[in-house]
Amino acid sequence: MNPTYDGIQSLPPCPYSRPVEVIREDEYPHMKQGIYLDHSGTTIYARTLIDRFAHKMSTNLYGNPHSANQPAKISGDMVDAVRAKALRFLGADPRHFDLVFVSNATAAIKLVADSFRDLAEQTRSGRFWMGRVFNDPEAAPDFACVSFYKIFGFPDLGGLVVRRDSGHILALRRYFGGGTVSMVSAIGGAWHVSKGLEAANAGQAGEADGHAHGLHEGLEDGTLPFHSILALGEAIDVHRELYGSMENISLHTTRLVRRLYEGISSLRYANGQPLCKVYCENVEEFGDAARQGATVAFNVFCEDGSYVPYSTVEHAANERGIYVRSGGICCPGGIFSSLGYEPWQLKRARSAGHHCGSDGLSIINELPTGVVRASLGAMSTTQDVDAFVSFLHGAFIEGRLHQRVPPEMETEMEHVTPQPAYSTG
Ligand SMILES: Cc1ncc(COP(=O)(O)O)c(C=O)c1O
Repeated sequence: MNPTYDGIQSLPPCPYSRPVEVIREDEYPHMKQGIYLDHSGTTIYARTLIDRFAHKMSTNLYGNPHSANQPAKISGDMVDAVRAKALRFLGADPRHFDLVFVSNATAAIKLVADSFRDLAEQTRSGRFWMGRVFNDPEAAPDFACVSFYKIFGFPDLGGLVVRRDSGHILALRRYFGGGTVSMVSAIGGAWHVSKGLEAANAGQAGEADGHAHGLHEGLEDGTLPFHSILALGEAIDVHRELYGSMENISLHTTRLVRRLYEGISSLRYANGQPLCKVYCENVEEFGDAARQGATVAFNVFCEDGSYVPYSTVEHAANERGIYVRSGGICCPGGIFSSLGYEPWQLKRARSAGHHCGSDGLSIINELPTGVVRASLGAMSTTQDVDAFVSFLHGAFIEGRLHQRVPPEMETEMEHVTPQPAYSTG
């Protein structure tokens, strides 16, 4: 094992104001419990964020923002301020965009999808956006979904950024919850007046000030997760203090992911068989932040070129305190495209007993049904990356795994395809 890491030399160094190892030591003592490489699942929260959140919670009286008392007003003002702060963080000008708080990105997508189903409309285009997506409101996406915990680690909160010009589509939704209507009749015939529709109409007539009657008011059903929104405000501040900007994080993780890719790709058995197959369209993507995020998806080979079940890799890593994710990783379309599946092979996989989730079949007819995913975050270090590469080398090439198969894998392997030994000694 001797990676040269040539591709890293030309990449800019980590731009943080303090070495990432120092940030890690100060802010993430809880990450000493292992090598955490599942930042696409969720990244990890900083200690200062939790301290400041706890301080605000214990020194203020926050009420339900739907009430009219003073504690409610404190919450309401705080929610307004955090909404504006979050839009600024995302680079979305509040004059052109609104932010609807939801529980996660899935809920944001569902909110949009439900509205389109009600309206049977189509999006303006199927474009893919990256970088400063909201710079030009005319070219920006109508709807953008975000899970804030994936950026800050905490709170567990999501958002839907809505281009105000397109907000009327959401305001026409059929179903609604408490707080989203300015009037509702439950007697003598049901009718309601949506705050969102009022805001959208006012906006189209040029009357909206962009703040007073936001579209969000017609879309946030029931009581807002106001404690989580409080935490989001702290999260944005702490994040800026630690990392400066998302661009800085991108520079840092781009360099690290290139190292991870080069490390994994350098691993070979004595007979020359590569240890891993990395899924990407072009290897030069690793090192280009516009084309590749901080994630490497791969599968592990045995010395004879057959596949090691991805669940075996995840399990073996987990036992050594290295935390990655494996399987369909919430992305069935991307995964089966990358694996080269034909539609009939998907049906065959289902017939063979494969299903989504951690106990699906890792290998069917000698082909993997998923991948191993190692993903990096703002506070990931070179040591994390090297520890993982070293684990792969030790476990599979040096054979420290001792051919031991986790119990839950035995049934799978017996019933599907006999696996050659991957311990090569
Ligand atoms: C690749 C991927 N896409 C989408 C999601 C869904 O995000 P959320 O659960 O926050 O809606 C996840 C969650 O882990 C994910 O890993």
